[in-house]
Amino acid sequence: MPAIEIKKDIYWVGVIDWNLKNFHGYALAHQGTTYNAYLVLDNKVTLFDTVPEKFKWELFHQIQSLIDIGDIDYIVANHLEMDHSGALPFIMDKANPEKLFCSVMGEKSLKAHFHPSDWPLEAVKDGREISLGKRTVNFIETRMLHWPDSMFSYIPNDKLLISSDAFGQNIANSNIFDDQHDLDSLIREARHYFTNIILPYSPLVLKLLDRVQEAGLELDMIAPDHGMIWRSHPDKILAAYKEFASQKLRPKAVLVYDTMWSSTEKMIRAVADALISEGIEVRVMSLKSHHHSDVMGEFSDAAALVCGSPTHNNSMMPLMADFLTYMKGLKPKNRIGAALGSYGWSGEAPSAMSRILEDAGFDLPQKPLRLQYVPGHEQLAVCKELGRALAQAIKAKVAS
Ligand code: FEO
Repeated sequence: MPAIEIKKDIYWVGVIDWNLKNFHGYALAHQGTTYNAYLVLDNKVTLFDTVPEKFKWELFHQIQSLIDIGDIDYIVANHLEMDHSGALPFIMDKANPEKLFCSVMGEKSLKAHFHPSDWPLEAVKDGREISLGKRTVNFIETRMLHWPDSMFSYIPNDKLLISSDAFGQNIANSNIFDDQHDLDSLIREARHYFTNIILPYSPLVLKLLDRVQEAGLELDMIAPDHGMIWRSHPDKILAAYKEFASQKLRPKAVLVYDTMWSSTEKMIRAVADALISEGIEVRVMSLKSHHHSDVMGEFSDAAALVCGSPTHNNSMMPLMADFLTYMKGLKPKNRIGAALGSYGWSGEAPSAMSRILEDAGFDLPQKPLRLQYVPGHEQLAVCKELGRALAQAIKAKVAS
């Protein structure tokens, strides 16, 4: 894909990874993503970020289509994760720049990744400004959004924020601007991305958004390292991030389960019926059909999570253990949980799931529910009772 001018003398020189399905541990909602890099043609020609190692020649050709790569004066590494730094050693070798800028934490990260002996590395503190000639660049440290090394680069002259992973989405498309897509779909992709990558750092996001507001940064364009560039709706993605990070909840429950002979599935369906009749929106998601990251995408704005698993070898089913480990690591806040499942002779799964939910900070208004073998009409009525009680707890949670 050819380089694209996004502002006068500022070019997108990224690559599109059309067929990517699994993005460092989570399944993409749709296939593919982009790795965005940006080249600023000024007195000091500056490259912001690179791409994965396997795309190093494509980045090279992108740059060569505009300038000779040896004309690069500065490289800025906003984030050292390999999807943005894998090609860095190759580009450093070809460009031989005067300076390589990264954050203070980035210096440590960069050295631990690449063990460079003679790179002209300069660590920049939060607020540091450098001149490119006609423009300046201000560096904004965004530590733990989502790695220790992460930072933003802000170019006030162009009102352009190069925002690393923040505000990104996993979309592979040759139309690289927000206004070339349906806005609601873009925000939905941004939410999926946020939930699976940035959710644990929500308090830091809220502080950063406050800082951006207090500093009065004028933002005409936000250029993330993945997905579409926000040139028409930077205000919308900022507002969406505030909502995502606030973890504002809706009267919605995600019922996630695995089942062996369909008994647990029957229990889950009965709970779902009761929730629906009480006016709660539900998503019923089998872990055999949905990747754990897609369940989290749905759970991002839901007040409650209902987990179902039969007892298997004195514990829960492996897919449920996988999901709960992943979910707990993302640290969702202020949620309601419930656990249930069928069993044959020992019945440990619901209690085991409840303990994990409790450890993760969930409120558990109902005791874990276990039913032996196949639930009949009376047992399903017990499940519906649980669903009705959960609905009241959800309504109270959303109202609080
Ligand atoms: Fe897109 Fe944290 O890397």
